[in-house]
Amino acid sequence: MAPEIKYTKIFIDNKWVDAKSGKTFDTYDPHDGSVIAKVAEGDQADINLAVSAAKRAFHRNSEWRLIDAQDRGKLLNKFADLVHRDEEYLCALETYNNGAVITMSRTFIPRVVDTIRYLASLADKIQGDTMPIGGDLFSYTLKQPVGVCGLILPWNVPILMFISKVITALAAGCTVVVKPAEQTPLTALALAALLAEAGLPPGVVNVVPGFGPGAGSALTHHPDVAKISFTGSVEVGKLIQQAAGANNLKRVTLELGGKSPLVIMNDANLDIAVPYAALGVFTHQGQICIAASRLFVQAEIYDEFVKRAVAFAKARVVGDPKDPKSQQGPQIDEEMMKKVLGYIEKGKQEGAKLLTGGKRIGNQGFYVEPTVFADVKDDMTIAKEEIFGPVQSILKFDTLEEVIDRANDTNYGLAAGIFTTNIDTALQFSKHVEAGVVWINTYFSTSPQMPFGGFKESGLGRENGMMSVEAYLEVKSVITALPKKL
Ligand code: NAI
Ligand code: MG
Repeated sequence: MAPEIKYTKIFIDNKWVDAKSGKTFDTYDPHDGSVIAKVAEGDQADINLAVSAAKRAFHRNSEWRLIDAQDRGKLLNKFADLVHRDEEYLCALETYNNGAVITMSRTFIPRVVDTIRYLASLADKIQGDTMPIGGDLFSYTLKQPVGVCGLILPWNVPILMFISKVITALAAGCTVVVKPAEQTPLTALALAALLAEAGLPPGVVNVVPGFGPGAGSALTHHPDVAKISFTGSVEVGKLIQQAAGANNLKRVTLELGGKSPLVIMNDANLDIAVPYAALGVFTHQGQICIAASRLFVQAEIYDEFVKRAVAFAKARVVGDPKDPKSQQGPQIDEEMMKKVLGYIEKGKQEGAKLLTGGKRIGNQGFYVEPTVFADVKDDMTIAKEEIFGPVQSILKFDTLEEVIDRANDTNYGLAAGIFTTNIDTALQFSKHVEAGVVWINTYFSTSPQMPFGGFKESGLGRENGMMSVEAYLEVKSVITALPKKL
């Protein structure tokens, strides 16, 4: 049964309001393309109201600014309790609006609760230093929240993205305006309701659904927004950095795309490496920024590996994400499905060997077959551009030196992995590969304790980990003269 849709309006000052323009947009179920609900379409006027609310909530005398840091953490932990209480509903809603298979949503949401608790625990650990300067000066640093933050979310893992940005900003003491992706506004609105229920003062969190060039762009250009955190495409990441520089020099954190290399050495245990490599690119229909989308396999095991990879892809169960038997659901929308199919056509035209998959499944919803290309060359489009679909591209290599250079020959640098039983090989690879996260004999494992982010065009800054909160803080040096003589 479809989950009940409780919230479809804009959330400002802990109240639900229509868009100033009165406009709405449809949000869809990617399983069959049917309309789930009409959602208020925020634009510049609504962003202005939301930013004003966030600015009021950030005033030096506001309840939020005066709260004890420990109590701020407690409020966020109360929110974690509510997310835990509503876990089943949030899983169903995420799967309904996003197409994530229900088994994935169900393993994800408990991790979301852990992430909230971890980030909330940073609230009362924000400390400055004292510095010994001069004989008669007393000097210390204060770390203070940067101000109103604009948080722009992607559609691929909507709940996790909301949590990692919103809770870090709140732990730091900032106030926020969230712009969820136009494809997946529903879970962000449900989470906003839970934040209000947890007792957050009005204006601390505001959520304005809408489109990128409308609400998104208005947020990135707003002079009262001190910081933007964004996850999405490199193209929009670059626009955001320009917008941030155009008026008030906003601080910017960017989590962008990837074309992550996964290397399988001759000495790897194939029983482990084959499924990890496949799940590294097929999980969530390939719509994960850290997908293992360039799979380098060493020459000696190449043929055997390819044979097993094809068998793995063929055995994948694709179907309705609400069905617990489904291992792969639909792509998020028709545009993204067409983009993926376009890349597959390019792969064929440019001479990659299509061994399985390659087509749309049925004509309802946005399903693409698990696809394997072998004999992929570095200069082919499918080896260079982010596909964001269930497409495994296998490339052959001979030596470690060669594969490190080829792995690094990209503008991206988000993730990388290696399967080998030789510790020297693993450590050499992790030292030289240009990526924000490196996995050895595993893939995809992330945790709120570990910093996450990219080298090169994969982004700026890091989320998660102790340092994540620093991106939402300003450091103030305070220097006091002491009396010369007592
Ligand atoms: P996108 O970057 O256009 O959208 C992400 C978010 O940015 C959405 O909330 C959107 O409304 C907003 N946005 C779009 N234009 C904006 C603007 N001018 N100013 C401010 N905000 C704006 O990504 P899209 O179009 O959904 O996907 C395109 C490609 O980006 C995907 O095929 C994939 O390769 C990559 N992508 C990467 C993600 C990641 O996790 N790093 C997540 C989503 C997409
Ligand atoms: Mg876009």
